[in-house]
Amino acid sequence: MSGLFDLTGRVACVTGASAGLGQRAAIALAAAGAQVVGVARRTDALAEWEQSVGPAAATVAADLSQRDQITDIAERIATPFGTPDIVVHAAGINTRETADEVTDAGWDVTMNLNLAAPFFLTQCFVPQMRAKQWGRVVNFASLQTTRAFPGGVSYGASKAGIGQLTRAMAEAWSCDGINANAIGPGFFPTELTGPVFADPERAARNAAQTCVGRNGALDDIDGPLLFLCSDASRYVTGQVLMVDGGFTAK
Ligand SMILES: NC(=O)c1ccc[n+]([C@@H]2O[C@H](COP(=O)([O-])OP(=O)(O)OC[C@H]3O[C@@H](n4cnc5c(N)ncnc54)[C@H](OP(=O)(O)O)[C@@H]3O)[C@@H](O)[C@H]2O)c1
Repeated sequence: MSGLFDLTGRVACVTGASAGLGQRAAIALAAAGAQVVGVARRTDALAEWEQSVGPAAATVAADLSQRDQITDIAERIATPFGTPDIVVHAAGINTRETADEVTDAGWDVTMNLNLAAPFFLTQCFVPQMRAKQWGRVVNFASLQTTRAFPGGVSYGASKAGIGQLTRAMAEAWSCDGINANAIGPGFFPTELTGPVFADPERAARNAAQTCVGRNGALDDIDGPLLFLCSDASRYVTGQVLMVDGGFTAK
């Protein structure tokens, strides 16, 4: 029973490890015993996280919106500790272009990073996970997986896609021991939600919409994440677990 959440001996890859929820995920997985490879573009922020964790951490600086580089990036990720058993896809952007202003470039980078990268990167790791008959994939969904917000055309479409991608990954790979689920955060204070938290009234309105009466704190994802990355979730797959203080419950 006590070993259910233990990640000793597991190798994890966390995208978006330079900031926000991805960095928090990378900290939590290392604390649970995993060796963790953090991926993002900013080398300074990655290096700071790597130093704080020590020898169980490694970093790969890469732009995950470049579809043609995903195979190379996957090879670099597997170099320090071997192919990951766990992959957490937290890298994401929100261009906040209004419906009338959505551009080709904004649409493409959003879809490539938020939706295509989680699939194609995981696809690179599946053969090794299958050989071990064990793997965990955690995607990052959103309130916008099921709800429309202003300026959320590309972002919302990508996050709705994440909901279905998660179910499709589960359907394809869970019989090989590879479970795929998603975390759907409510409002957490990060760079991504800077514009939301810069408006105190808006932040308070979001907090009031939750059942628990507050917005998220970064370490609120620790428990749900460890659950979805460990043996504890062995019969849970294809699910979007909303970690939103009950925002979507009322
Ligand atoms: N914060 C929230 O309230 C909230 C709510 C719902 C869903 N989410 C989701 O949770 C995930 C994490 O969000 P967050 O709030 O932690 O965002 P964040 O603080 O803005 O961090 C985003 C991360 O993605 C990385 N990234 C951005 N573009 C990249 C690229 N082209 N290639 C590689 N890495 C890239 C960034 O690193 P670099 O800039 O160094 O590349 C950074 O590490 C996202 O998928 C987001 O949609 C967040």
